[in-house]
Amino acid sequence: MSVRIAPSVLSADFAALGDDVRMVAAAGADWIHVDVMDGRFVPNISIGLPVVTALARVSPLPLDVHLMIVEPEKYVDAFVEAGAASVSVHVEATDHLHRLVHRIRQLGARPGVAINPATPLDAVAEIAPDLDIVILMSVNPGFGGQTFIERSYDRLSRLRDLLDRQGSPAVITVDGGVDPGRAEAVVTAGGDVLVAGAAIFAAADPAAAIAALRDAGDRGWEARRAR
Ligand code: DX5
Ligand code: ZN
Repeated sequence: MSVRIAPSVLSADFAALGDDVRMVAAAGADWIHVDVMDGRFVPNISIGLPVVTALARVSPLPLDVHLMIVEPEKYVDAFVEAGAASVSVHVEATDHLHRLVHRIRQLGARPGVAINPATPLDAVAEIAPDLDIVILMSVNPGFGGQTFIERSYDRLSRLRDLLDRQGSPAVITVDGGVDPGRAEAVVTAGGDVLVAGAAIFAAADPAAAIAALRDAGDRGWEARRAR
């Protein structure tokens, strides 16, 4: 197993999203991370269903949709229909997480839960066995290009322990402020999937940035296996 790289299109060129998706796919990315923001759950508005539908038409990689929206239960069917391969909802955004996670899986997509930096990890404990993905937010959601919150390393290792205790098959996606300088420590602490927006799309050479993320992440993977 090696680390997976999921470029976040939030930092891509929105006037040429298809080209950027094809570019990162050619550069060896594993997933396309699609940040949906409603201006209510987070103080920003990004993209919605028409863009996911369009990306699904051109992306050779699975669309990893991150719903930063209130009332996600109203929209998960439409996002799976639009072409989402995985749908992650925020634990803070719904009162009926068990029903929603099972609905996403029933629709044929991989269910995930995202958790904000100050939300106790125990919030995902009961649903953990039913998840394919847990997104650990390492920034406050809503914007790309932010700085990684240092306490995320400790949260990451505790989340890994929690998922292992719960017998959860979920991978941990680390989302926010991840760059090649942090990737090794992030994976060593328990990260399996690295989301990166600015570190890839703001780089002079995005393909080299993806390769650097993968090299550093795989060093972290080796360190984890050696423990
Ligand atoms: C933030 C989003 C992240 C963000 C990552 O709310 O969920 O996916 O786009 O971008 P960087 O890597 O630039 O922090
Ligand atoms: Zn995200």
